[in-house]
Amino acid sequence: MHSSCSLMALAATFSTTLAAFQGFNYGSTFNNGAAKVQSDFEAEFKTAQGLVGAPGGGFTSARLYTTVQAGTSNQPIAAIPAAIATKTSLLLGIWCSAGDGIVDNELAALRSAITKYGADFGSLVAGISVGSEDLYRNSPTGILNKENPGKDPADIVRYIKLVRDAIAGTPLANAPVGHVDTWTAWVNGSNQAVIDASDWLGVDAYPYFQDTQTNTIENSKDLFNAAFDATKAAAGGKPVWVTETGYPVSGKTVGLAVPSLQNAKTYWDQVGCPLFGSTNIWWYTLQDAAPATPNPSFGIIGSSLTTTPLYDISCNNVNPPPPSSTSASSSSSSTPSSSSSQVSSSSTKEPAGSITSSGPSSSLVSSTLPTTLVTDTTVVQPTPTGNVVSGSGSGSNGGVTTTGTSSPSAATGTHPNGGAVASGSMSAAFAAVMVAILVL
Ligand SMILES: *[C@@H]1O[C@H](CO)[C@@H](O)[C@H](O)[C@H]1NC(C)=O
Repeated sequence: MHSSCSLMALAATFSTTLAAFQGFNYGSTFNNGAAKVQSDFEAEFKTAQGLVGAPGGGFTSARLYTTVQAGTSNQPIAAIPAAIATKTSLLLGIWCSAGDGIVDNELAALRSAITKYGADFGSLVAGISVGSEDLYRNSPTGILNKENPGKDPADIVRYIKLVRDAIAGTPLANAPVGHVDTWTAWVNGSNQAVIDASDWLGVDAYPYFQDTQTNTIENSKDLFNAAFDATKAAAGGKPVWVTETGYPVSGKTVGLAVPSLQNAKTYWDQVGCPLFGSTNIWWYTLQDAAPATPNPSFGIIGSSLTTTPLYDISCNNVNPPPPSSTSASSSSSSTPSSSSSQVSSSSTKEPAGSITSSGPSSSLVSSTLPTTLVTDTTVVQPTPTGNVVSGSGSGSNGGVTTTGTSSPSAATGTHPNGGAVASGSMSAAFAAVMVAILVL
């Protein structure tokens, strides 16, 4: 009796997890710097929704990097009405690295959008990211890679409060507010205040750029999972969303990583497929090649909008199939780890979630992490967003780093936190189901 009740509860937990947000990242400009207008965003969102063979619940969510329409100082980005017209959920982005004045413009655009679109807007918002990789850009690696300037944790915390104030009492009041960064920033104990201030953590991870690691395509899944697991271990039980990952279909070799259609598909199958439908994820990306093909190019379609991807995205014939063995193993490795001082200190400061506190032994994480990963912060490389955008000079928004011009966001109005929490409870559910099966 007792166990069947437990199983029913677990089944209910599991079914919620299937409502995870799933989408792509969307810049505010094309890569020649031209501003995207509403019809451009609508065309992109419809293309994403119509992708042939799309796994999970389909690509119905959009992550934005800025709330400001390209070419204006503080008008709301046209992706918002486009999302409303196409029922696309939004992970909104507030561009932070360019300083207080730009953040003021972001907030003004956010307030205008709330006034103009109200509940239609609020019901689509999956969350709000206050900043993107700002802490990474201020780290030694970011400086080495000339990604500066970034922002200090105290500034991000201050901006998070401004955003919370801006949405209080509005249709966006329940939108979970967080921050996106690299795993190296998340495990850095100096950034703990940002974790404390966030409802969720977003992680951007690109094994392709990790050229101080063995970043062959064969090892890329393990590199991604190590980054994801290290972030989860630092999160103190807060949800971790995958806000950017992907693999180039063409372009330069970085370390041992060779862009190709085959390798991009392998990465999709091994990293994306186990997550789609169960973890909130915004892939990088639908299209980055309009009008010109960048080097590297991460788009799953080429320069023209088409619902036929460059490779099979169906997750059919993926071995091992999602979500069983892969998810179960990643769930066990998502438990807290003592493999770095930053991670363990964050665990003690945060109220530990039931998942983390009850998880299997911490040795799991350290055994799956290449030992250099936690300590070697140089593994983090600039993300495609930064590279591609800065390389193509698509900056707009009054001198904002071009990274900030990419932007979509995602949202679901129903239960903003549902999908996110799901990624954590998903792991627990699988672990528990496994235990239940073993007991039976
Ligand atoms: C850790 O974070 C602090 C604050 O963001 C930053 O100044 C420092 O450079 C980071 N250290 C490393 C090794 O990334």
